[in-house]
Amino acid sequence: MNIDIRDLHFTYPGNVHALNGISLSIASGEQVAIIGQNGAGKTTLVKHLNGLLLPTSGVVRIGSWDTREHPVAKLAARVGYVFQNPDEQLFTKTVHDEVAFGPKNLGYPPEKVEQLVEDALELTELQDKRDVNPYDLSATWRKMVALASIVSMDTPIIVLDEPTTGQDAANIARIAHVVATLRARGKTVITITHDIDFCAENFDRIIALAQGRILLDGPANDVLGQEDVLAQTYVEPPQLTRLGLRLGFEEVVRNEEEFLAAYRRYIDDHGE
Ligand SMILES: Nc1ncnc2c1ncn2[C@@H]1O[C@H](COP(=O)(O)OP(=O)(O)OP(=O)(O)O)[C@@H](O)[C@H]1O
Ligand SMILES: [Mg+2]
Repeated sequence: MNIDIRDLHFTYPGNVHALNGISLSIASGEQVAIIGQNGAGKTTLVKHLNGLLLPTSGVVRIGSWDTREHPVAKLAARVGYVFQNPDEQLFTKTVHDEVAFGPKNLGYPPEKVEQLVEDALELTELQDKRDVNPYDLSATWRKMVALASIVSMDTPIIVLDEPTTGQDAANIARIAHVVATLRARGKTVITITHDIDFCAENFDRIIALAQGRILLDGPANDVLGQEDVLAQTYVEPPQLTRLGLRLGFEEVVRNEEEFLAAYRRYIDDHGE
């Protein structure tokens, strides 16, 4: 299911111009990271995908649906949104009920609901916490519950707002595994992140926002190679990318594997 955004402007009460003419398309099954400094408009942009916010002007289409013409409850079947702060999202007494709420609400029969809940709990490694009250879990695990409660809705599009913030390395690896699994299932995954390493490792396309506009949009390596432009939004490419640029590698690298391959070619060319 494609996403199409045309000349989107959004102004908050008080005349805060959060989005100033965003146009972009995201094809079914794409994995996209959205980066940019605090206040760039990232959350405002993704809240337009499920109708939580409606354009001041411009158009947002999810498949053939204009978000202004379909209620949030209907859009929820197409776009799952994991909030930046899980405490805005969680409200039931057990992890199981939290994860079951979405698919129940979408009208799936009980058997199908249980199947979706089991799958989501397994994927997020929450099986042993199913009877626990989410508020008795650590903040890191509450974030996993928020993620599971959206995964269980089985929407074609999933939006994650800052999934790795405040997470330890083990949970970041779990989240990366969830993203990889969703990708393998053909889902569209859109992730807002300040974590440039997580972004470089897990996403093929990067969109950089600044002051409610698109600064860069393209394949991850191309975007990460634009060190000077990224600096405008206070984003530094990953360390290995910067090292590769300093060494004068011909191609931009974004992880260890790519760095080593480029380094071998570099040695071959500059050796002896
Ligand atoms: N409810 C609101 N009312 C008024 N202004 C708001 C509201 N929410 C956000 N803004 C403003 O809109 C702009 C964009 O905010 P937004 O939350 O979309 O940025 P962001 O890129 O998600 O930032 P962060 O990285 O801090 O989460 C900012 O200037 C922010 O102060
Ligand atoms: Mg935000």
